[in-house]
Amino acid sequence: MKVIVLDNAVEISKEAAEIIIKQVNKNRGSVIGFATGASPVETYKRIIESYEKGEVSLKHITTFNLDEYVGLSRENVNSYYYFMKDNLFGKTDVDFQKVNFLSGQAENIEEECARYSAKIRESGGIDIQILGIGTNGHIGFNEPGDNFADGPFAVKLTQSTIDANSKYFEAVGDKMPEYALTMGIGDIMRAKRIILIATGKSKAEAIKKLVEGEVTPSCPASILKLHGDVTVFVDKESASLLGDR
Ligand code: GLP
Repeated sequence: MKVIVLDNAVEISKEAAEIIIKQVNKNRGSVIGFATGASPVETYKRIIESYEKGEVSLKHITTFNLDEYVGLSRENVNSYYYFMKDNLFGKTDVDFQKVNFLSGQAENIEEECARYSAKIRESGGIDIQILGIGTNGHIGFNEPGDNFADGPFAVKLTQSTIDANSKYFEAVGDKMPEYALTMGIGDIMRAKRIILIATGKSKAEAIKKLVEGEVTPSCPASILKLHGDVTVFVDKESASLLGDR
């Protein structure tokens, strides 16, 4: 696992975006796994800038997002579909036919998870998976627990995740859903390359556990140590608890 400490989110975004743009320019039909949350937003801005300058086209990529809240429609401003449309896809030439999401409104959750799993396999697998990290060490919505899940599943969100994300729902007078659908750890680990982005003091403990702790489902991100191609981009604050390296 490569850990790269940079000054701030803007510096991180330049490097992270470059990796994605290079991948897409090498293979225009790349399969990219996207994450939501504040962490990748700057990176998405850089990709949009490159698209506007004609340096990259996302027209032929296939996308898979990590997770979605149960019960939210794509039109809901707090759905992750809306987030991606607003923060990246809708501002580039992404082909929405090639955008894949777990549906938060699926009637049969098991079938929906199986469908998503099959879709990822049929695409040939994810070339680059972008990740953030929860303050409790979650990736996607794989919350701390007793084991690592393989494929997509429905999860009851922990109080720490609800505390971290409620603000977005309160802002529009809504209550945050308690359940979400997420790719499993297996889906994430099968990606050929993984980029994790973390910024701010609130992530320092999770980053310490990820980088220096043992591999344990009580810190789901810790499994990334077992993957052969992971780059962790951290700013000085989120790296502040790391020992000398
Ligand atoms: C959210 C998402 C994750 C995200 C993480 C951190 O709940 N499910 O995919 O990486 O929590 O979010 P943020 O980047 O806003 O801190």
